[in-house]
Amino acid sequence: LRTQVAVIGAGPAGLVLANVLRQAGIDCLVLERHSREYVQARARAGLIEPGTVEFLARHGLAGQLVAEGAEHGACEFRHRGERFSVPYGELSGGRVHHVYPQQFLVRDLIDAYLDAGGTLLFEQGAEALTGLDGDRALVRAADVEIECEFVAGADGFHGISRAAVPERLRQGHGQHEFGQHEYGKQHEFGWLAVLAETPPATREIVYALHEDGFAGHMLRTPSVSRFYLQCPLGDDPANWPDERIWSALHRRLAMTGDELKPGPITEKAVLDMRSHVTEPMRHGRLFLLGDAAHIISPAGGKGMNLAIADAAELARRLLAHYAGREGELAGYSAARLPRIWQAQEFSHWLLHLLHSPDPDGPDAPFLHRLQLSRLAQLRDSPAHSTAFAVNYVGAPID
Ligand code: APR
Repeated sequence: LRTQVAVIGAGPAGLVLANVLRQAGIDCLVLERHSREYVQARARAGLIEPGTVEFLARHGLAGQLVAEGAEHGACEFRHRGERFSVPYGELSGGRVHHVYPQQFLVRDLIDAYLDAGGTLLFEQGAEALTGLDGDRALVRAADVEIECEFVAGADGFHGISRAAVPERLRQGHGQHEFGQHEYGKQHEFGWLAVLAETPPATREIVYALHEDGFAGHMLRTPSVSRFYLQCPLGDDPANWPDERIWSALHRRLAMTGDELKPGPITEKAVLDMRSHVTEPMRHGRLFLLGDAAHIISPAGGKGMNLAIADAAELARRLLAHYAGREGELAGYSAARLPRIWQAQEFSHWLLHLLHSPDPDGPDAPFLHRLQLSRLAQLRDSPAHSTAFAVNYVGAPID
């Protein structure tokens, strides 16, 4: 097969890129390792920033999201019986999130792309990328081989795209021959991510600080809620029978069983709490986007939004390239990285506001005092809460 742009991965990043390219008449083809049923049922994030919604709407991709997603402009912090709400919508000039499960958006994007006549091959994992430094690139999958001008690597952190950058260019943290860097941090604790069939026990997202560890009550749909519980690094979900999860949630969130009703738990996983950025997000004919280029902690709900903003930027530059402005592609990585690092900084800050330091660590009491000071500043300082609001809702996508 031949195409102009081969897109690897049908997550939010790959699908947004493919839709926008297709609308502009640029030939592309998407390869996805899993089945359509699998990717449409995979529950992940759910907090969609206003800039993301506006961008999708401009491309006719936000119909269902706007019709069915709920708008949210405030979140609540809890600590030791005290609670306060941060009205980040008001503080950011009326910019609010939409809460809409990622797998619904993935479904909508697949429908839109296929309805427009796009080609998407499911259960065709890309296995090898070659020719990235040559005149044409070649993507080999189980049953097909695709010759293309550019490869959009949108296949997540464990996909083949990131790994296609030669090892010698990405080892360690230093400057290498061609300037490729990898920056990463393994956080010192885990988060148990729980999906339960229970209506939300709150109207706002709740972030609770507790000596046993952070707990978060996130929103998904009127009948499904997402929860996070801080746990030791490398903990096993088997250590968390359902009763333990509900009792930890009740205790840490300071909610009774009447408020937060235990329901069937449909998913339980210990998240790999890692942050990572690859620079630059390009190697020859390969462009990295979304999780393939950067992993961000779930604190702040930035991952899917960054993935879509990457896709928007790459699409804009590919369009300019095919319109004859050939230098445009060179600026992709430099345009995205400052925004990505700003999101990383925010997520890192929020993570360390929320999580309890290891109680056995020698500096735990000091770190805990810092944590309480951060919380007090967020509650008491308008300048502080406004900065939080602006970061939380994210920037518009140009
Ligand atoms: N070939 C084809 N497809 C692949 C391959 C491969 N070799 N490897 C992985 N994939 C597919 C996965 O099955 C998945 O559907 O690539 C897709 C990558 O999608 P996501 O992981 O959703 O990544 P991305 O589009 O970058 O969106 C990232 O959403 O929920 C958040 O935390 C998530 O921040 C992340 C964001």
